[in-house]
Order: sequence, then structure tokens, then C-alpha cells
Amino acid sequence: MLGVIDPELGDNVVDLGMFLGADIGAGGLVRVRLALTTAACPLRSQLQADVEGRVGSLPGVRAVEVVTSEMSRQQKRDLMARARWKARDMAPAIDIPGRTRVLAISSGKGGVGKSSVTVNLAAGLARRGYTVGLLDADIAGFSVPRMLGMDGRLQAVPSATGGGRPRLCPQVKAVGAGEIRVLSMGFLSGEDEAVMWRGLMLNRAVQHFIEDADWGDLDYLLVDMPPGTGDVQMGLARMLPRAEMLIVTTPALGAQKVASRAADMARKGYLRVAGVIENMSGFTDPQGAHHALFGSGGGARLAEDIGAPLLAQIPIRPEVSAGGDSGNPAALGSGDTAADFAALVDAVVAVAPLVEMRDCTARLLDVVEGALGPKSAGV
Ligand SMILES: Nc1ncnc2c1ncn2[C@@H]1O[C@H](COP(=O)(O)OP(=O)(O)OP(=O)(O)O)[C@@H](O)[C@H]1O
Ligand SMILES: [Mg+2]
Repeated sequence: MLGVIDPELGDNVVDLGMFLGADIGAGGLVRVRLALTTAACPLRSQLQADVEGRVGSLPGVRAVEVVTSEMSRQQKRDLMARARWKARDMAPAIDIPGRTRVLAISSGKGGVGKSSVTVNLAAGLARRGYTVGLLDADIAGFSVPRMLGMDGRLQAVPSATGGGRPRLCPQVKAVGAGEIRVLSMGFLSGEDEAVMWRGLMLNRAVQHFIEDADWGDLDYLLVDMPPGTGDVQMGLARMLPRAEMLIVTTPALGAQKVASRAADMARKGYLRVAGVIENMSGFTDPQGAHHALFGSGGGARLAEDIGAPLLAQIPIRPEVSAGGDSGNPAALGSGDTAADFAALVDAVVAVAPLVEMRDCTARLLDVVEGALGPKSAGV
């Protein structure tokens, strides 16, 4: 039975306390008793089939019957404690402080302004005195160094303990009372070096940026995600299970369908969607007339669909693209665009932090905690 793993909790059913016992009857009939967290456990048939397969293949067993029941409150509490402990145990060693808010800026499709929003949010946070890490996870299509006017080279120093892999040093840009610490493939320079790094890193660059970097003490770590949904999202969910998603969408109603796919991915990786940011929300011409160039309502609709707050609506403004091209983020200027980004910073700072669950099955635990009621707090 030790080989039967609960696919959601990632541990075997014996250690999780789900295996209650087995009786061996006449004629090789084995009855296995399993306790599930909820009677309607979506994985019930998978667990049953797994038990049947494994027990059924033992010599002398002719038939297997799996009898399921629902766990008692105390059993559920014990299971949660075990699952949390195990998840903590399994999490990769990273030295990003536990208090750092990790926000991954994602979208369903490309070109909606993820990178522009990310650098302006980073600049706006730093302007207020925060220390902000910015991980450019768009390995092939990096744009962060240009948008922040940074052109340093990626530095690596030998690990302090010696023997280990070299540590990557983020490039630092001082902004007001704070600073932005950036890691990006854009800091690879020199052909030889690039070739060496590419071979070493390309597939696992994001992992290196998380696991082998000296980020130091950060208030925020923003991750500029590549377009679409894929490996990087899943990898991030595994390496930084406390990451939260900010989903950028345009106001087009159609765009919100694609964006909600990104939200689905976040949920599958059990990342919370902290909020939606609508970008390119119309254009106001010099005469003051408003043009909804990309439609309207997409951000509010997506926010409602996924049950996350709409944190900001950033209009189309020439300062945003000009700032990106010149390396001077519009958030650091004055005027309406800087005010829009300041409002976004306010909204992001105000989002209540995630209660940390580390790697464990947030969805399942939600169900279990819901079933246990308010008394389960602190379990
Ligand atoms: N609010 C805005 N007003 C004007 N231009 C904008 C705005 N937001 C983004 N842009 C411009 O739109 C283009 C795409 O933006 P950006 O590169 O930030 O998108 P992205 O979602 O990161 O793209 P990719 O998917 O390729 O990474 C850029 O040229 C940028 O300057
Ligand atoms: Mg981008």
C-alpha cells in the first residue's frame, strides 16, 4: 500500500492515514478500507483502481474490494498537518525570504503589455522605497533590460560555501529610496559567453534565476512571464508555490477568454490569481475624445469570471511605449500616466498577502478546511 500515492497530496496513503486496514477473506478476496478526505473525492476512482491493481497483483489474491469512507475531523486535521509538513520538506532550497511577495505577471497571449506593466510596477514600488526583484522569465524574448535602460552583464560568483554552483548576481538599478534588482537573459553579452551560458542555462534559466541567484532581502519579486501558458508557468508553481499571478489583459471581450486560460493554468498549479490588470484601456486624443480602440469591459469581465479584483485600467498612452523604448519607465515621471501606475502600485500593495501553503494541494485543503469550518484555523 506504500506504493499507492495520493496524486494531489503527493504522499502515500499509508503515511497520510488514509489506509485503514485490509481483511483477507476466503478464496483470495481482499477487502481494503480507505478513508477519503471528502466522500465526493474527485480522485476516488483513481485511488481505487490503483489499490486494486497493486493488491490484485500480489500472489494469492483473486479479487480486491475497496471500501471507502470519509475521514473524521481529527483524521482530516492530521492529514493536513502531514501534507503541509511533507510539502515543506520537499520544497526546493531557495533563499528568497519568506516575507517576499512573489508576483508573476502573466497573460494568455503576447503583446498585451506584461513587460510594460511589470517594469512600471517595479519602478513604482521602488520609488516608494521598496526593494524589488525583477526576474525576466521571457528567456527568448526578454525586454526588461531595455525597458529599464540597463545594459550590464550577467555576473556569477563562486558559491560562498565553495563547491556548489556559482551564484548569479542581479543587476541593480537605484530608484528613489528603493531599488530594482534584475536578472534577465538580456544581460548575456559577448558571443562566447552567450554560447556558454546558453548551453548551460537555456532550458533551465528560470530555475537558475530562482535557485542560484543572490536576490538578497526583497520586499517584492516580480516575474515577467513569457506569453502564453506552458512550462515556465508550471515550473514557477513548483519552485515558488507561494507565487501569485497578476493577469494582464486588453479590454477586448474576446481577449478575456484567452486570459482566463492563463488563470486556469494558475489554478492548476494552485497559484492564487491576486488580480487582473486591464492594459490599453482606450485612448484619449488631444481634443479630449475617448476612443475604445480595443473594445471595453474585458478586464472587468475577466476579473468577475475568475473571482479576482480588477486592480487597474491603464489607458493607451504614448509615454508608456516611449518610456519603454528609452529605458525611463513612465511610472517615474509625473502626470496622468505616472498617476495611473501609482494607483496600480496602491492596489497591488493593498492585496492581502497569501496565507502560505507551500506546495500542498491548496484546492483540496480548501475543501477540507471548508468542511471543517472555522474551528480548523491554525491546524
Ligand atoms: N498602456 C500602453 N500604452 C501605450 N503603449 C503600450 C502600453 N502598454 C504596452 N504598450 C506597448 O505595446 C507593446 C507591447 O508591450 P509589452 O512588450 O509590454 O507586451 P508583452 O505582453 O510583454 O509582450 P510579449 O508577450 O511579447 O512579452 C510595446 O511596444 C509597449 O511599449
Ligand atoms: Mg514581454
